[in-house]
Amino acid sequence: MNEIYKDKTKSANERAKDLLSRMTVPEKAAQMLQLPYSKMPRENAISWAEKGLGSFLHVLGDDARELQQTALKTRLGIPVIFGIDAIHGHGLNDTATIFPSQLAAACSWNRELIEQMGRVTAREVATDGLHWTFSPVLCLGRDARWGRVNETFGEDPYLAGELGVSIIKGYQGDSLSSEESILACAKHYLGYGEAVGARDSCDTEMTFRKAREVFLPPFKKAAEAGCATFMTAYGSIDSSPFTASEKALRHILKDEFGFEGFVVTDWDNVTSLVTNQHVAADMKEATYLAVKAGNDMIMTSEGFYNAAIKLIEEKKLDEKLLDDAVLRILRIKFQMGLFEQSEKKGKPGCFGCEEHLEINKELARESVVLLKNNGILPIKSKRIAVIGPNADDIRAQYGDWTYFTHPEPDNGSEPKRPYCTVLEGMRELAGEYGAEIFYSKGCSVLGKDDAELADADFKEAVKLAGECDAVVLVVGDVIEQTGETKDRADLSLSGAQNALFKQIKGLGKPVVTVLVSSKPLCIPEIAEDTDALLIAFNGGMFGGLAAAEAIYGKINPSGRLPISFPRHSGQIPVYYNSLPGWHGGKYMDLPGEALFTFGEGLAYTEYEYSGIEFDEKNFVLSVNVKNTGNMDGAETVQVYYRDLVSSVLTPVLQLIAFEKVKIGAGETKTVTFQLKKDDFALVTPDERRVVEPGAFEVMAGHCAKAESLLKVEFVI
Ligand code: NOJ
Repeated sequence: MNEIYKDKTKSANERAKDLLSRMTVPEKAAQMLQLPYSKMPRENAISWAEKGLGSFLHVLGDDARELQQTALKTRLGIPVIFGIDAIHGHGLNDTATIFPSQLAAACSWNRELIEQMGRVTAREVATDGLHWTFSPVLCLGRDARWGRVNETFGEDPYLAGELGVSIIKGYQGDSLSSEESILACAKHYLGYGEAVGARDSCDTEMTFRKAREVFLPPFKKAAEAGCATFMTAYGSIDSSPFTASEKALRHILKDEFGFEGFVVTDWDNVTSLVTNQHVAADMKEATYLAVKAGNDMIMTSEGFYNAAIKLIEEKKLDEKLLDDAVLRILRIKFQMGLFEQSEKKGKPGCFGCEEHLEINKELARESVVLLKNNGILPIKSKRIAVIGPNADDIRAQYGDWTYFTHPEPDNGSEPKRPYCTVLEGMRELAGEYGAEIFYSKGCSVLGKDDAELADADFKEAVKLAGECDAVVLVVGDVIEQTGETKDRADLSLSGAQNALFKQIKGLGKPVVTVLVSSKPLCIPEIAEDTDALLIAFNGGMFGGLAAAEAIYGKINPSGRLPISFPRHSGQIPVYYNSLPGWHGGKYMDLPGEALFTFGEGLAYTEYEYSGIEFDEKNFVLSVNVKNTGNMDGAETVQVYYRDLVSSVLTPVLQLIAFEKVKIGAGETKTVTFQLKKDDFALVTPDERRVVEPGAFEVMAGHCAKAESLLKVEFVI
């Protein structure tokens, strides 16, 4: 028989169909399984490769090569794909480039740089012989207590969708078959960040209408951009597990969005239908539910293999469903060119090369957000005390998903690539600015919180502050407080960090506070009393350098918040695009507004907006933006809208466009946006997306605060 699947001139789809027609049921079941190499003895992994396993995750180098060679020797020789969590760079490899976290990168609001971050990551992952990253996270960070907020692009569906598409383009390039392209994975589909109480993997009290309004749009954009894979979320929607949601996976993602790639479950989702979510009595039932719903590849639930075979033997599961799943997986393998060359070459020698480090630095610079400045910055003081637990902690600066945190937490390995903490950055640049730097850690992030009990370190730091002209205080969180299952009920600064700030501020010295953290923390007193506040989240290798450059004024800060800062944990969730209410706008004991709002961010110059115009026939908006200061800068011009009367509640404000524009000192630029009618749509109770005729307001300005926006009313 003519082996079409071996014929390179045929399309990926034709080849996949032909190969599928030759496969036995056990081969199909194996193709649908993905197992974690790092969690199993090598012999087991080899024996799974001999069965024709579809994919392994978390395996590097020669181990991966051995598995691939084993797979290629099987009857049909189907190559394995190797997946890895290259979340902000290929961080599980200790020589790769580590970028700012997704949340930090989102502060740049820079589509091009984020695409380049994806490209660099893809190149390094491919150079390691791997094919697939489980990135980006397109869940929203609306509840800052969630441990994985650092992995999101922030709270807004439009911003998350735009940056998501950028990084996907970077990972996948123009063609999956390129030596430097890897598969992207839009995850976690759906609503992972909305789990009740921010308790990881719990139920999402969300309806599909709500999902369509807020949580599905970034995923829809990812599907339209050709994202090759999607990952099913752990949780459930209104009490139905996403893993078993035919509506979410098959109907919406595959049928409606036209997604042609494959869906992988998250870690052990199928087993969890039995053991955690209790919607299936045994693995057979769970397997039936998962396959029927539209999961194509099953991560780590080993029992799936026997269960799937049994279900087919007993005629309880339609083999066509397995066929659809396997066809999707094979098609991607053909599109990647793996049957011709199973190992991507990448670009030898590219790990942490000059070009990659430069892109990384640029992104780190654009990720720093200045939220307060009473004039102390750029700093002119000559004797500067750098104090605080995160001033010189590269683990805290990197955040999650690096070789410090996975697979074994803090395995002690040291970075093999250059990096720069805030302390090092302040020291490195001190000479240029004639400054002298002194350092004291003061306290640890996880230490005791009572200043009275403060130990020698604490006292030494306060003493040092007293001897200097100004203090750069670097506080935040650490990796023990970051990531999966690390949800926090209380987002106050932990340990003696607040006490340290108070004592230092009490000395009457100017204090520049830098927050090196995985996400917004509740810092109302600091925000009130500090002289300047910089947010540097998890800035990657050069996060500290970027913060130091901002402090000295070597760069003009241009980062903007992709997420709001709550004043207090009890105020969470707090996000800018809420629905209108009337009594609940504030608390009895707290204002309703966030401490800092989505889109905020200062510079060493100011931007003045004028002359907003909206051509309502063609949906073209333009606005003039003047840099009124004497330093060149970059302003992120944000466009929002509001539906003035609608049949369902619509957000008080919603971002629909933005553009980051370089504007020279004294220069004015006219920024123009081509909007479209659908930008003004709402989702009806029966889940239809419609634009209702009537009056709208469209706004442009600096951030999501009403007073910073110019507006035009118009009618559709
Ligand atoms: C579980 C996480 O939820 C997911 O994001 C990750 O990609 C997989 N584990 C694989 O490590």
